[in-house]
Amino acid sequence: MIIGVPKEIMPGERRVAATPETVKAMRDMGLTVLVQKDAGEGAFYHDPEYIAAGAEIVECPREIFERADMILKVKEPQFNKELDTHEVDLMHAGQYLITFIHPAAPANHTMVKDMATKGIISITLDGIPRISRAQAMDALTSMSTCAGYKGSLLAANHLPVFMPMMATAVGMIKPIQALVIGAGVGGLQAIATIKRLGAIVHAADIRPDAAEQAGSLGAKVIDLGIDPKDAIGEGGYALALSPENLAKERAILAEVVKDMDIIFLSALVPGKLAPILITEEMVKTMKPGSVIVDISIDQGGNCEITPPGTTEQKHNVTIVGIKNIPGMLPTSSTWMFSKNVLHLVKYLIQDGKVVLDFDDQIIKEALTTYDGKVVHQGALEAFELD
Ligand code: NAI
Repeated sequence: MIIGVPKEIMPGERRVAATPETVKAMRDMGLTVLVQKDAGEGAFYHDPEYIAAGAEIVECPREIFERADMILKVKEPQFNKELDTHEVDLMHAGQYLITFIHPAAPANHTMVKDMATKGIISITLDGIPRISRAQAMDALTSMSTCAGYKGSLLAANHLPVFMPMMATAVGMIKPIQALVIGAGVGGLQAIATIKRLGAIVHAADIRPDAAEQAGSLGAKVIDLGIDPKDAIGEGGYALALSPENLAKERAILAEVVKDMDIIFLSALVPGKLAPILITEEMVKTMKPGSVIVDISIDQGGNCEITPPGTTEQKHNVTIVGIKNIPGMLPTSSTWMFSKNVLHLVKYLIQDGKVVLDFDDQIIKEALTTYDGKVVHQGALEAFELD
């Protein structure tokens, strides 16, 4: 079986789906691995290391897509300007694709339908369920860890003041105040990172378990006054709040944001648009020079005025809406991502062949296109709204 690893083509994307280490592991499974020339450059993994690990370096992406039985990528297929063709058009029927597809996102609907029509068997990494036996394959969790850490450093860099308490000859500098809303994977990492930089950290989450974990990391937990039965759904995941509860939460947060120097936003309800928790009016009450980092921007953002994909100053507040924060930490994010992908490859390939068990929760939730059809539940629901 031939595995293909093309170079990512999204502008600014520095990650790659395999490292020399994971190439070696795939070679040990008896797989042939084609890696596009310079595919790992952005993450500081170089061709000679891939060759030493047993990869065949291929110059043209067209050849990789033609020869491979399974393509490993980081980002969903997109238009390749250099080749003047879409990556979906480079693929063929019966070929497997493993990557982040975000199939429910409206911008991807046409691409997902095209993959089905072409007979591509695609598996989306954002569909891997957060269950213990799938933990090693959970790239979303890995990338949220990267976003929590690097997003906190971005906040620190934009801040015009010191973060920790300092005793200086000209007087005492007080530590800054930070608020993390949404204490899931990304939020907890942000709490730990911001705390290490010396800030006083506050945290808010509607799930009592998440709030408790935030507290155990040393954050001061804000009571949002939401009844757990309105906040927790099946499998322990957060629920979308009713308009009344959302208004109640915003009113509590409005009192807190005025005193904050950093607000880190990472509140998300799986499969839904992110709840708006910080309104423009609330931003206007913030301290001049304060910073908002809104990592939920892929789902629309938790702040009403976050600029998608960029950083802007509004009402004297720097608002970061960068969508590819893990790409700013390319070596670590690639190291984690490639290992997650390797675990999935090992899970899928038995005796040199892909085996799909359609009753398995991991396959059921991650399989996106199969047998000429779109089979991903979230995508099918989203298509109805088109
Ligand atoms: P998660 O599901 O682990 O955590 C989300 C948390 O938000 C949960 O604890 C949930 O209880 C909480 N929440 C939901 N509704 C809330 C509300 N109304 N008020 C307060 N808390 C609420 O999600 P994870 O993995 O931490 O991801 C967070 C976000 O980061 C996602 O939107 C994800 O797509 C994004 N992300 C962004 C990246 C970037 O480069 N911008 C990279 C990786 C992830």
